[in-house]
Amino acid sequence: MTSKPLSNAGVSIPEVGLGTWEYRAGVEPLRRGLDAGALFIDTAESYGTEPVVGHAVAGIRDRVFVATKVSPEHFRFDDVLKAADASLKRLRIDRIDLYQLHRPNDAVPVEETLAAMERLVDAGKVRFIGVSNFSVAQLERARKAARKYPIVSNQVRYNVVDRTIEADLLKYCQASGLTVIAYSPLGRTFQSVLDCDPDGALADMARLTGRTMAQVALNWCLCADGVVAIPKGNSTAHVVENCGASGWRLTAEQRRLLDRRIRWRRRGRMEAFVRGVLPPPIKRAVRDIAQKLPPGLRRRFT
Ligand SMILES: NC(=O)c1ccc[n+]([C@@H]2O[C@H](COP(=O)([O-])OP(=O)(O)OC[C@H]3O[C@@H](n4cnc5c(N)ncnc54)[C@H](OP(=O)(O)O)[C@@H]3O)[C@@H](O)[C@H]2O)c1
Repeated sequence: MTSKPLSNAGVSIPEVGLGTWEYRAGVEPLRRGLDAGALFIDTAESYGTEPVVGHAVAGIRDRVFVATKVSPEHFRFDDVLKAADASLKRLRIDRIDLYQLHRPNDAVPVEETLAAMERLVDAGKVRFIGVSNFSVAQLERARKAARKYPIVSNQVRYNVVDRTIEADLLKYCQASGLTVIAYSPLGRTFQSVLDCDPDGALADMARLTGRTMAQVALNWCLCADGVVAIPKGNSTAHVVENCGASGWRLTAEQRRLLDRRIRWRRRGRMEAFVRGVLPPPIKRAVRDIAQKLPPGLRRRFT
């Protein structure tokens, strides 16, 4: 497993980590992923998976980089402190390696939230501070508000078919030395990636490289400087396969070929805004309805 530096923090993390949103497969697949070198697990207080992550890292905690997130409804100073304690308890660890603001919350000044995050670092309960779903403007404000400890990462959606962050955010993070943690690197459902690949470019590339389609799709993300990926697999087979996305690289020519043949897109500002303000249950309902549409239409909604 290849590692990449976490920002300028002086540590490296595996370039493929283990995502756990809607993860339901128990301890074993996570353990097998850790054995395969993905010593980096991402969870969140809202996922309900902190306990299983705690079980998976028990006994090898010092070798695993554990990332979790505080939910926006807990962004007031005291609530952040309480949320961190609750996460530590569920994870059964005494320090969170990367504590991330799950998504921006305009109702609470980010200065207040970051003051609490810094308090947690001072108390030894958090090692590094990160954010998630932050735009360039939101990152700039947050980075100014982080007075004692830098923000080291931004966790955002990035995959071979959704390249929205390439418009500005990716370059901003790369220029500022912030690590991009690519979420939904397999498109949230791998079918949504395949929907955008009607000519079978991924299958051709898999044959050419001797890898699987999922490994090719993940490796495409990892080719970008400063980007690591956290695919979620609900089986040992998927988790171990995804670890095989590391340790090799698509060539520039192979990436250009995928870029030409896959129907990737960047979301416009209006779509990104609407997605940002829609409550999760509505977003889920839209996605469920979209699954019943033909592929050409379906891919607009996933
Ligand atoms: N910060 C945020 O707001 C945010 C938002 C979304 C996600 N995330 C994080 O990012 C992680 C990953 O994103 P995600 O869960 O949205 O989706 P994802 O990792 O892009 O895709 C997961 C889907 O791909 C399938 N899959 C996994 N490995 C596969 C393989 N080798 N071949 C074929 N299909 C495969 C999974 O199937 P099975 O489940 O059947 O294995 C599942 O349906 C999350 O778990 C979470 O940790 C963060």
